[in-house]
Amino acid sequence: MVLNRALILGALALTTMMSPSGGEDIVADHVGTYGAEFYQSHGPSSEYTQEFDEDELLYVDLEKKETVWRLPMFGQFAGFHIQVALSNIATAKHNLDVMTKWYNFTPVINEVPEVTVFSKSPVMLGQPNTLICHVDNIFPPVINITWLKNGHAVTKGVYETSFLPKDDHSFFKFGYLTFLPSDDDVYDCKVEHWGLEEPLLKHWEPEIPAPMSELTETVVCALGLTMGLVGIVVGTIFIIQGLRSGGASRHQGPL
Ligand SMILES: *[C@@H]1O[C@H](CO)[C@@H](O)[C@H](O)[C@H]1NC(C)=O
Repeated sequence: MVLNRALILGALALTTMMSPSGGEDIVADHVGTYGAEFYQSHGPSSEYTQEFDEDELLYVDLEKKETVWRLPMFGQFAGFHIQVALSNIATAKHNLDVMTKWYNFTPVINEVPEVTVFSKSPVMLGQPNTLICHVDNIFPPVINITWLKNGHAVTKGVYETSFLPKDDHSFFKFGYLTFLPSDDDVYDCKVEHWGLEEPLLKHWEPEIPAPMSELTETVVCALGLTMGLVGIVVGTIFIIQGLRSGGASRHQGPL
């Protein structure tokens, strides 16, 4: 009985984890992933992350053997024993070796990544902002995300997240570029991946409302002026009428 209940709880937990957004019967309010990892033979390379609602909390720098919190403040109210990540990665490496032989060294199929670029805040010329490059459907997790400003590579003010896992075992990643919006500058997020025949450039430039033509300006000005004048005339008429009827009623008092 106890075992049964444990099994059901286990199944529920699994369902919740597997469908964070679209579960029919169980809707999870929040999903924490405390330990997502991969190991791949390319490189070879590996990654260990923890997330909350698909936002990165930390990753483990496996070369320096240190925890890197997504925001330094996270480290003040949470802790993490790096040994957990290291032993999990060692297990993943062992499993991969076994599976690679089991599947007779069949290589993975490269997916085509999807790229979207948008600004963090509404664009105001001269107001510092951040461009965000969202790269989705990444598989395998080997990619270059770089930024071009007016066609030239930028390396300052650049940051990117780890590979963040998705339900379908692909990954997504965010690239960031801090910038100062200006009329003259255009940007591209450049993505290189084996699923693409050539590097994909996703273009972005500030959307500045087209200046009004002189005719439109004149028409708008004339309309505004006319409406103002009409208002003054109508207002004056009402005031005069009000004064007259007020005066009339005063005379209608008992004689
Ligand atoms: C990423 O860039 C490096 C250096 O230019 C290059 O050697 C590598 O092939 C690129 N990776 C992909 C997936 O295109």
